Amino acid sequence: KRLILVGPPGSGKGTQSPIIKDEYCLCHLATGDMLRAAVAAKTPLGVKAKEAMDKGELVSDSLVVGIINEALNKPSCHKGFILDGFPRTVVQAEKLDEMLEKRGIKVDKVLNFAIDDAILEERITGRWIHPVSGRSYHTKFAPPKVPGVDDVTGEPLIQRKDDTAAVLKSRLEAFHRQTEPVIDYYGKKSILTNLHAEKPPQEVKAEVQKALL
Ligand code: AP5
Ligand code: ZN
Ligand code: ZN
Repeated sequence: KRLILVGPPGSGKGTQSPIIKDEYCLCHLATGDMLRAAVAAKTPLGVKAKEAMDKGELVSDSLVVGIINEALNKPSCHKGFILDGFPRTVVQAEKLDEMLEKRGIKVDKVLNFAIDDAILEERITGRWIHPVSGRSYHTKFAPPKVPGVDDVTGEPLIQRKDDTAAVLKSRLEAFHRQTEPVIDYYGKKSILTNLHAEKPPQEVKAEVQKALL
């Protein structure tokens, strides 16, 4: 399967991804995770992306299209993939169509994590992540077994630099202005499924599984 997950910050894309990935043996390509790794490693890509990310703005289309194009060449992504956080602009969606066409494949399904903005601040400010794996926790909704520590590796959890109420505002603005048109783009192609992303994780998971039957 070839899937796209789209939705505002904190809507649950990164939470559902590992579940889908394990169930269908797909590769998980999260542009946000890849960019954060590049920023942490201070690579040329990371240096270019950091300023926009810290402000909650989108990084340039050409940068993210480049990293996705490269990632799609990995053998582990040939059978299927989950794109988490990409495409986020109509230009990116069009570029993706071109990249897939060249490879003779297409997107099977787009899952839209539909949710009211009002719920997102609590989700974002309570999030703690394990930066290496991308696993996320929440102090109230998904606490780790030991506070501040990753369940799997025992390594410390951190908070994302952009997970503040103030930066969330810019991220939401970018979502409504630049990413909502992407949802319409896929709606017209009739491959879009709307999820009730405000429900508890287990119920969202059930909706995802139903959509992928
Ligand atoms: P990115 O990392 O993609 O961030 P985002 O889109 O803002 O999404 P989040 O990761 O914040 O939300 P999520 O939906 O994954 O939520 P999660 O499941 O963790 O992008 C970061 C930045 O990188 C962008 O701002 C931009 O600068 C740049 N970038 C990335 N891609 C780009 C692109 N294509 N083009 C240009 N720039 C790009 O859940 C959140 C919290 O809620 C967690 O604590 C979780 O435990 C909890 N939670 C999850 N589900 C539930 C539930 N059902 N009920 C209760 N709590 C829940
Ligand atoms: Zn995420
Ligand atoms: Zn809107």
